[in-house]
Amino acid sequence: MRRPFIAGNWKMNLDRASAVALAEGLVKKAAGTDGVDIAICPPSLYLDAVAAAVAGSNVALGAQDMYHEPKGAFTGEISGAMLCDIGCKYVILGHSERRHVLGETDEDINKKVLAALEVGLLPIVCVGELLSDRKSGTTMEVIRRQFEGSLAGISAEQMQQITIAYEPVWAIGTGEVATPQQAEEVHLDLRKIMVQRYNDEVAEVVRIQYGGSVKPDNAAELIGQPNIDGALVGGAALKVDSFIGIIAGAGS
Ligand code: 13P
Repeated sequence: MRRPFIAGNWKMNLDRASAVALAEGLVKKAAGTDGVDIAICPPSLYLDAVAAAVAGSNVALGAQDMYHEPKGAFTGEISGAMLCDIGCKYVILGHSERRHVLGETDEDINKKVLAALEVGLLPIVCVGELLSDRKSGTTMEVIRRQFEGSLAGISAEQMQQITIAYEPVWAIGTGEVATPQQAEEVHLDLRKIMVQRYNDEVAEVVRIQYGGSVKPDNAAELIGQPNIDGALVGGAALKVDSFIGIIAGAGS
């Protein structure tokens, strides 16, 4: 059985003091929770401070992005090795805001996924359709293209290190959550893509998170679907009680 995985994506929010306070609050309230993997992904600048706050706890640290080159003249960028150095276990790659606001392509994301695996980071690779894709009936075409492009050249063994996050763009930060049936349909299709591309074992072990307006009151029903293995949470990850509420929903 796949263990539920709840990750908080703090995006470009909080200041140093509130990031540390949030991490400390989560560590306290999540202590003793087992059966659910938990991670938080603060802004890069606060990773170090948050790493200290979560050290020795069951809350793991993740980054929101990284650059694919290991080092050198890449002003403003951060490498996978640097993320490992400060204690990151996970890295979110190909988030819709990076795709649609910052212009990242599947090819860019693919380079990052390969580089992350190279240094032992566990990638959370995001895919998701725009509202216009859903309206025109091309959701699965878009998801398949993102999956194949972002994960080109990934072996069956490497695939098992990866978490997929299905985040319909129209549901991110809008309060408009996909219905459990809508999300489950895409998750099931993603699993079928993995069976075709890899094998049954890979499709069985890879976790697929849902992301997009997940809140304590909708988490349990979403995560209760057979192919939804957790959540990638934005807004509701910025408060201790709502994030803990979602974790509780995943464990129920
Ligand atoms: P919200 O939970 O705020 O909709 O954000 C989802 C998301 O983008 C997580 O990566």
